[in-house]
Amino acid sequence: MNELPDHIEALNRLLQTRQFGRLCRWYDAVDSTNPIALAWAKDGAPTGALIVAEFQKRGRGRFDRSWSADPGENLTFSLVLQAEAMQDNLELLPLALAISVAETIQQNVEPHKPSIKWPNDVLFAGRKVSGILVESSLPADGARHGGCVAAGIGINVNQSTFPSELTGIATSLFQVLGRRVDRFALLADLLLSIESVFDVLSAGGQEDILQRYRTLMSGVQKTVRFERMGGAGTTEGTILGVDASGALQVRTARGVETLRAGEVTFRTEIPERSPVVRLADSSPSQKSG
Ligand code: BTN
Repeated sequence: MNELPDHIEALNRLLQTRQFGRLCRWYDAVDSTNPIALAWAKDGAPTGALIVAEFQKRGRGRFDRSWSADPGENLTFSLVLQAEAMQDNLELLPLALAISVAETIQQNVEPHKPSIKWPNDVLFAGRKVSGILVESSLPADGARHGGCVAAGIGINVNQSTFPSELTGIATSLFQVLGRRVDRFALLADLLLSIESVFDVLSAGGQEDILQRYRTLMSGVQKTVRFERMGGAGTTEGTILGVDASGALQVRTARGVETLRAGEVTFRTEIPERSPVVRLADSSPSQKSG
């Protein structure tokens, strides 16, 4: 686990944030950046402290899945968020982070338009290009004081091929664009965007976040099969949108149901929102859900 000071300097030259990413640890290889962020947060690292890894040996995804990404080609990082700074915005945080990722990618690759598959998978040309894992360590009494959050983000940037089991599921910016993307510039832009959505949330701008989310959300009015976690069976339903807490609203045979992130997964063939320049294979552990 060697630190890479030249990478930190390269990022610093591009950073336009007040706080996010200003304190940074960039490693060649770690197990996963999320537990490092949580441990650092407990040691007093401030909101916005950043852990980046060139390679994760045990990258984690939602639902205990893994997240694998080729070394040196992608972005895999976690941000420290002190829970006090989060106020009551923890529910919308994963959605807000997905907005930042999708909007930042869009700025960097216009005229292509990424979309978001609820709750926080970012799709590019209909395939998963980014996953987000928010993990928290909160006091048992539910108090915010002393609690902390790791916002872990993986973006497939310049990876050229993926394992065959991810064909049709995962993609990278490189695969769609047919050119390499500057990871440092992308990360600097993304940190600025995350700082801004964090400011919006902190200032009570939940409605603004939800509106931006709805603009980017894919699958609305699609009928899909939801798999309930813990072997609780499947349900078919039509996606209606998200409610004020970021939960998914679905019309099923039983009426309108509210599904929370962590309770269900679903697969859907997402219609293309952008012209596809080039598509190639895709990757595992990066299943959307
Ligand atoms: C998912 O799509 O299931 C979430 C994937 C999250 C991956 C990121 S990469 C950086 C951070 N560290 C991890 O181990 N996971 C997250």
